[in-house]
Amino acid sequence: MLIPVILSGGAGTRLWPVSREGHPKPFMKLPDGESLLFKTYRRARRVAEPGEILTVTNREYFFLSRDEFQLALPQEAETPTFLLEPFGRNTAPAIALAALQVAERHGAEAQMLVMPADHLIHDEALFARTVQQAAALAAQGHLVTFGIQPTAPETGYGYIEAGQPVNTTVPQGNHVVRFIEKPARERAEQLLAAGNYLWNSGMFCFAAQTMLDALQQHAPEVLHAARACLADARIDHTSHATLVEIQGESFREAPDISIDYAVMEKSGQVAVVPGAFGWNDIGSWDAVRSLSEPDTDGNRTTGDTVFVDSHDTYVHNSDDRLVATVGLDNLLIIDTPDALLVAAADQAQKVKEVVKALKARG
Ligand code: GDD
Ligand code: MG
Repeated sequence: MLIPVILSGGAGTRLWPVSREGHPKPFMKLPDGESLLFKTYRRARRVAEPGEILTVTNREYFFLSRDEFQLALPQEAETPTFLLEPFGRNTAPAIALAALQVAERHGAEAQMLVMPADHLIHDEALFARTVQQAAALAAQGHLVTFGIQPTAPETGYGYIEAGQPVNTTVPQGNHVVRFIEKPARERAEQLLAAGNYLWNSGMFCFAAQTMLDALQQHAPEVLHAARACLADARIDHTSHATLVEIQGESFREAPDISIDYAVMEKSGQVAVVPGAFGWNDIGSWDAVRSLSEPDTDGNRTTGDTVFVDSHDTYVHNSDDRLVATVGLDNLLIIDTPDALLVAAADQAQKVKEVVKALKARG
């Protein structure tokens, strides 16, 4: 049995002002009108029934999430389960809660497919086939990662050094020699040049028991806190979903750490399957721009825009407001009802600095 575990509790600050704490990246609509969470749910439905899907998110996002799921598949008879966190504690506690929940409901041998709801996958059918390959490796006791061929020295990703093949026959995959989470720029350049490193896509496949054992060994305080949280969680069955509400008092004890630092960098059981399905983290507005078709001057827009003597400029319109640009080159213009971003496209990564500055202002 393979249980999709959707993670959508993070904030995604590089896509400000559309992605914000109250409305983060998984809920952002892409130029095709679909949100990342909607697409993630559809991918999950390729490998499991609705009643098997587990979403771990912040309780503030429950209604937004439920609406997206209903949009994805309005007629579904079974209801998915939501593990609702009172605040973010990063991915290790979220995955620990999910592993305990899956082991309890479906047995410790049940496998989990961890699916972050903050990136895009191009070929969903190939993705589903790659998941079957990963699940076969997970059945052999591996923590399976999905590796992406790197194209730039990104510092926002984990890097995976692939070693010897795990098996001489199918299922195919490689042992992971080293897992390096978010290297500094210089290191990232070395890893890219070395040629034998892959990016970690952030998706994982493993048996619940394999993850629980790894947490016990490498991050026992995370597992301990997650157990305590589930012991006093409030469970609610509504007509749309089963809700497992984690209480703030117990969750405060959970360390704030990602699964990559807590487990993946430390475990010797990590394996990798290559993800050739087309993966895009759309970590910046520059990446969002690349999703829509340019006009003959390289300009793109999501709504009503008049471009005069402008080139390679992207306008993300706010609902039906008209935008006009004159004499612009390679700019990103992101309009929303209460905030406007104008950024140089080659500095799109720095948008997160805006959020930092706003936070500092209070
Ligand atoms: N429920 C819950 N609670 N979900 C969370 C939390 C939390 O506290 N924090 C983050 N998430 C969700 C995010 O919404 C996202 O879908 C996913 O977990 C991954 O978290 P990110 O914060 O986006 O991680 P990252 O992008 O910095 O790094 C990870 O992904 C990269 C690929 O996109 C790592 O796994 C890297 O190694 C990887 O390369
Ligand atoms: Mg991310």
